[in-house]
Amino acid sequence: MTNIISKTLSSAVFTLVALAALSCSPYTDQPIRSGEIWPDDRGEHINAHGGGILYYDNTFYWFGEHKGERSSAAFVGVTCYSSKDLVNWKYEGVALPISEDPESEITSGCVLERPKVIYNEKTGKFVMWFHLELKGQGYSAARSAVAVSDKVTGPYTYLGSGRVNPGIMAENVTEEDFAWLDSLTEVPTSWTPEWLEAVSRGLFFKRDFEGGQMARDMTLFVDDDGKAYHIYASEENLTLNIAELSDDYLSHSGRYVRVAPAGHNEAPAIFKRNGTYWMITSGCTGWDPNAARMFSAPSIFGPWEQHPNPCRGDKSEITYGGQSTNILPIPGKKDLYMFMADIWRPRNPIDARYIWLPIQFDENGTPYLEWMDEWNIEEYK
Ligand code: GAL
Repeated sequence: MTNIISKTLSSAVFTLVALAALSCSPYTDQPIRSGEIWPDDRGEHINAHGGGILYYDNTFYWFGEHKGERSSAAFVGVTCYSSKDLVNWKYEGVALPISEDPESEITSGCVLERPKVIYNEKTGKFVMWFHLELKGQGYSAARSAVAVSDKVTGPYTYLGSGRVNPGIMAENVTEEDFAWLDSLTEVPTSWTPEWLEAVSRGLFFKRDFEGGQMARDMTLFVDDDGKAYHIYASEENLTLNIAELSDDYLSHSGRYVRVAPAGHNEAPAIFKRNGTYWMITSGCTGWDPNAARMFSAPSIFGPWEQHPNPCRGDKSEITYGGQSTNILPIPGKKDLYMFMADIWRPRNPIDARYIWLPIQFDENGTPYLEWMDEWNIEEYK
């Protein structure tokens, strides 16, 4: 009898706990459908491209590039959307508006790409970094820009832009590399093995040393110890840099490394799992999709080792039509990391779509991706 009572009691307690757990979950069983139109709370397709998501105060904030119907240039600014479940999104407005002042670095018609926002616990400020190209200069400026706000949704105050770490040596460039470059009597022809070796040993790094390194496609990463890193395509998109930010996240600390020199990577997205850093990137084919690349390292500063393309199955050679932008660890889900990519539509940029897929892990713990027409965050533990 006592046995029956205790069994009934424990199953009642179990049900209660299960119900409580269910009702606590912020997620929904509504699926994520990559490649489709994603309407916001106003019924408009979400306009936040090349973006990233910040989880703050139990809410997801998605920041991205606003794109228009004909041009990929910036005429509006960085948009912000919020959500509790990553499926239903509320438009929060323009977090960083472009400027109508023709003298401003972020004047209407500049190129403002891949904005990412992180929260600084020490200062209580939200910090946004993005790739900036000055109006009318194509992609030659290759600058990083920073903005700050006391409020997550903004408005963000624009602080300025520039090349990165002028006059500061990367940790993994040697004096011998510089001396060897000086000894070259002529610059080898582009894309020959000799040229690739020269690029790899710092041909463009050295060229840009005094003025600072180029920085185009980028992401940010905050590590467990609160240190933040800026990861960007440098050296004419031939080499990635991983640069530590200052304690307030508003500038660079001066510590940085070159990664995959002459590897021609862009669109970096990064996450950390069980002490290993994983980075997914793309090749450089403009708006056209190409095969993703993947790297891992035991420390953020490397050494970084390259793995095969993480994508499997149909269209894996073109990342299912997308290009990486961010990887989001899903709070409350033990081992769920969401890969985020953009399907660009350069002829009608506003119609660009999003690919969000759960990262899977093989028996060795190596990440991989498979296309899913739809999937549901609630199904993950
Ligand atoms: C892509 C890059 C995009 C954008 C585009 C312009 O390679 O990832 O962010 O810069 O080129 O052509």
